[in-house]
Amino acid sequence: MNTWVYSTAEVLAGETAKRLAEYVQANPGKLLCLAAGDTPLQAYGHLADFHRDGRIDLNAMWFVGLDEWVGIGYETPGSCRQVMFDGFYDRAGIDHSRILAFDGRNPDIDGQCMAVSRWIAEKGVIGLTVLGIGMNGHVGFNEPGSLADDTVRIVPLDATTTSVGQKYFPGGVVPTRGITVGMRELLAANQILMMASGNRKAPIVQRALSAEVTPEIPASLLRANGTLTVLLDEAAAGNTLF
Ligand code: PGA
Repeated sequence: MNTWVYSTAEVLAGETAKRLAEYVQANPGKLLCLAAGDTPLQAYGHLADFHRDGRIDLNAMWFVGLDEWVGIGYETPGSCRQVMFDGFYDRAGIDHSRILAFDGRNPDIDGQCMAVSRWIAEKGVIGLTVLGIGMNGHVGFNEPGSLADDTVRIVPLDATTTSVGQKYFPGGVVPTRGITVGMRELLAANQILMMASGNRKAPIVQRALSAEVTPEIPASLLRANGTLTVLLDEAAAGNTLF
């Protein structure tokens, strides 16, 4: 595991974007699995700009969405779909044929899980995934109790996730179920980047990276992937010495 600590969230975003751009340049044709959430958005914005400037070709890559809230579609601000299409895919101008993302409004959840599994299998494996970490240690919607073998699936959301989720849906109802790429597909990725910023994340970052590896903190399971790179700002790193 490599851990990098940057002074601010802005520097973290810039450095993450540079790493992603290097990966895209060196690995055309690979599959990227990108988390929505607040943490990586600024980095994705930079990456979209690199593409628009002609410095990288995102249309040479494949994309799979990490997760989605069940019942929530593109039209709802806060959906992973809207966040990612408006904040990254369409901002960059990525061809939609390169992207498979869960649609929370599509009632055929089993069909979507199968389609995402097939998409990943067709591309071989996830080349690189960008993950955040939830306040309860979740990655995607792999909630506490998730196992390393869990695959793409629908999950009941943890109380912490629905409570924190109010920030994405101000005044609205927070869904109680999610669909997610599983720990199995994430752990098989060639490279994992996990990002965290802000001091509210410091305690869970410390537990995920320095305490025991346990399904109760799904992010801790990522330590089994030898290429795990953790990218933090100083606030999220807290007092932990990495
Ligand atoms: P955040 O979400 O980036 O909005 O903090 C992280 C997560 O819940 O995985």
